Amino acid sequence: MPAWNQRLTKSLHQTRNQPESRYFQLATIDGEGIPENRTVVFRQLDDADYSLVIVSDTRSGKWASLTHQPMASVCWYFSKTREQYRFTVAGSCFTRNDEPTLINKHWSKLSDAGRKQYFWGRPSSVRQNDAPLRVNVDMSQPPEHFCVMKFKIQAVDYLSLQGNPQYREKHWQDKAGNWITQPVIP
Ligand SMILES: Cc1cc2nc3c(=O)[nH]c(=O)nc-3n(C[C@H](O)[C@H](O)[C@H](O)COP(=O)(O)O)c2cc1C
Repeated sequence: MPAWNQRLTKSLHQTRNQPESRYFQLATIDGEGIPENRTVVFRQLDDADYSLVIVSDTRSGKWASLTHQPMASVCWYFSKTREQYRFTVAGSCFTRNDEPTLINKHWSKLSDAGRKQYFWGRPSSVRQNDAPLRVNVDMSQPPEHFCVMKFKIQAVDYLSLQGNPQYREKHWQDKAGNWITQPVIP
């Protein structure tokens, strides 16, 4: 297991009782080259290809941006352990048309409240007169626009504020695919 993965596994364990430690910031680049950033829920670290997994909506801005530019950046701060991870990632997006098993797995884990959000209407479209967002549909099956996004980790910049001095290290893969770790000045 790469050293960064051991650290992240430990951070997740130490903060397992803090729901806010499951949120990270995902930054992408839109079609005009402008950075955009938003909070998302961490769903899984896929050990098979070292990717961070989230669920989202194909009608959201991030889908369009990732289609244009798959490279993205994740910033994740664990306030309890005072650790920051910055991941350079390559995004890929899946719907029920290409990965039905993956989609059903993540849909089945969502609460009713989580599922409802996917039936409110097109994200970012105009909401008329504060119209109520009522949902009276069968939510047992995921809609076509429900998607899973995987962000394959390519490099990691880790910073710990626990000690004095602080500790920072970088992680990347060499040409043979081995993970290299290098402590650097914070
Ligand atoms: C705590 C929190 C968790 C969120 N989790 C997600 C998520 O897992 N997936 C998602 O698509 N949006 C999530 N959002 C909403 C996004 O931050 C964002 O507003 C939305 O996805 C539209 O972003 P976009 O237009 O840049 O794609 C979350 C927002 C907050 C505040």
